[in-house]
Amino acid sequence: MNKKYQNFLKMVIYQIYPRSFRDSNGDGIGDINGVIEKLDYLKELGVNAIWMCPCYKSPNDDNGYDISDYCDIMDEFGTMEDIKRLISELHSREMKLIMDFVPNHTSTSHKWFQESRKSKDNPYSDYYYWFDEPQNDWESAFSGSAWEYDEMRGQYYLHSYAVSQADLNWDNPAVVKEMQGVIDFWINLGVDGFRCDVIDQISKDWEQNQNMFGPRLHEYIHALFGREEVAHLFTIGECWCQDIEELYKHTAFERGELSTVFQFNHMECGRESKFVPKTPDLREVRDIVIDWETLCEEHNLLYTLFTDNHDQPQFLSRVTGYSKLRYEAATMLAAMFYLLKGVSVIYQGQELGMTAAHYDAIEDFDDIESINYYQELLKTMSPKEALEGINFGSRDNTRHPMCWDDSEYGGFSDVKPWIAVHSEVKTQNLKTDLASEKSVFRFYQKLLKLRASSDAILSGSLQVLSKKEDRFFVYVREADGEKILVICNFEEPSEILVEDVIGTLLLSNYRERKEVSGLYAPYETAVFELK
Ligand code: GLC
Ligand code: CA
Repeated sequence: MNKKYQNFLKMVIYQIYPRSFRDSNGDGIGDINGVIEKLDYLKELGVNAIWMCPCYKSPNDDNGYDISDYCDIMDEFGTMEDIKRLISELHSREMKLIMDFVPNHTSTSHKWFQESRKSKDNPYSDYYYWFDEPQNDWESAFSGSAWEYDEMRGQYYLHSYAVSQADLNWDNPAVVKEMQGVIDFWINLGVDGFRCDVIDQISKDWEQNQNMFGPRLHEYIHALFGREEVAHLFTIGECWCQDIEELYKHTAFERGELSTVFQFNHMECGRESKFVPKTPDLREVRDIVIDWETLCEEHNLLYTLFTDNHDQPQFLSRVTGYSKLRYEAATMLAAMFYLLKGVSVIYQGQELGMTAAHYDAIEDFDDIESINYYQELLKTMSPKEALEGINFGSRDNTRHPMCWDDSEYGGFSDVKPWIAVHSEVKTQNLKTDLASEKSVFRFYQKLLKLRASSDAILSGSLQVLSKKEDRFFVYVREADGEKILVICNFEEPSEILVEDVIGTLLLSNYRERKEVSGLYAPYETAVFELK
């Protein structure tokens, strides 16, 4: 693997949903100064970068993914001065800032759209997709048609997401130039990388009738990140690469596009579809992750290890029977993922084993996707059933405020937050976690320390010892004679036998172990250095 990617393997990125992380000025909304307050906490956890969800000017129809000015900060989150301070505070701690970059669409209140709708022959006319008639039956990801009629222009425009999120027309070279300018603006301020929102959609495939993976996709990604002045950046795409060929095109070092992508296949485990649950099977998760690890290794690609983000209720809640063994399940999942090879991404609260929230009424939800979809569900089911579906899949169930202590608002804010605090705030918060024998935070901390100190874990080979039918995952990571054995047991007790090895225990979530082999309890994990 080339040097740049080798270095990226050391990255442990903490994803911050700024609206819900820490409110520094008592308005119930998290903000940039709140993030700055917690940087020492993050450093202590052992992360070395943060990815912050969008904090640009936005009317907030899709919580910041509807941007009205790429080069300014949302009032609720702070000012340009605050973000500059965040960058310098991060850099002084040797931490990086990964910004969220949203290239596929702008808010309809963006100046470009406001100009574009005025006429068919002004400098901004072709910044978006305008047609006299809807061109196809594409649907918005947030329900309903993806085409909206605009009175002023007298034409339809495309919106793959909310009506107020108009898709940019990348086939117009002026748009490519504008977006290069946005990247340059932020790197001049010292930003270290970008998470690229639904980047696969910037080229549409009109012929195959899909609003993504168009014929010019790679030309556009290359136009953004293949330039010499941005070659140092870390870039991670939100992508749905179906196979290794796609992944190669997106992320091979020599292609000058993205550094890596979020591969989402394992995220489908434990559900039939986004809003419909299915009995989880951790073996599926294990096998998908092993497959991608192996493929990435063979092709010198950079894999990304993650289980959570702001678009999915907590993985812990979906794939484990956590209710009795929350600490064990949360820590076992951590060992299952973050001792593998790849860029590590942790979502806020994951290091406390926070679970998905549950809301009692549709009025408690804020997310546009959930609210629209609830209306869809009502066409075929009762309000009670619809609410259950929404509670299972809604993005709001993961967007609840971070709980720092056990007070009414979880130490997130002094006033009622923009979205309800988790009903389990009394037990799922940092203060209580740290006071407990079973601290998820401290397990993460130890694990990340171990990760940073071991070449075998950072970049060694992977050998899987467990078999497909086993309800556990046993693997060895090895580099230059250093051998690390990881045992992750799933939901049932298992007799696990690893022949001919003697190991020293480095980390465990259950008990001291002298022997590697033996009976493992539900969600028990143990990590050994092999002699
Ligand atoms: C991505 C984001 C999601 C957003 C959507 C539209 O999937 O992660 O939160 O709603 O893109 O920008
Ligand atoms: Ca605030």
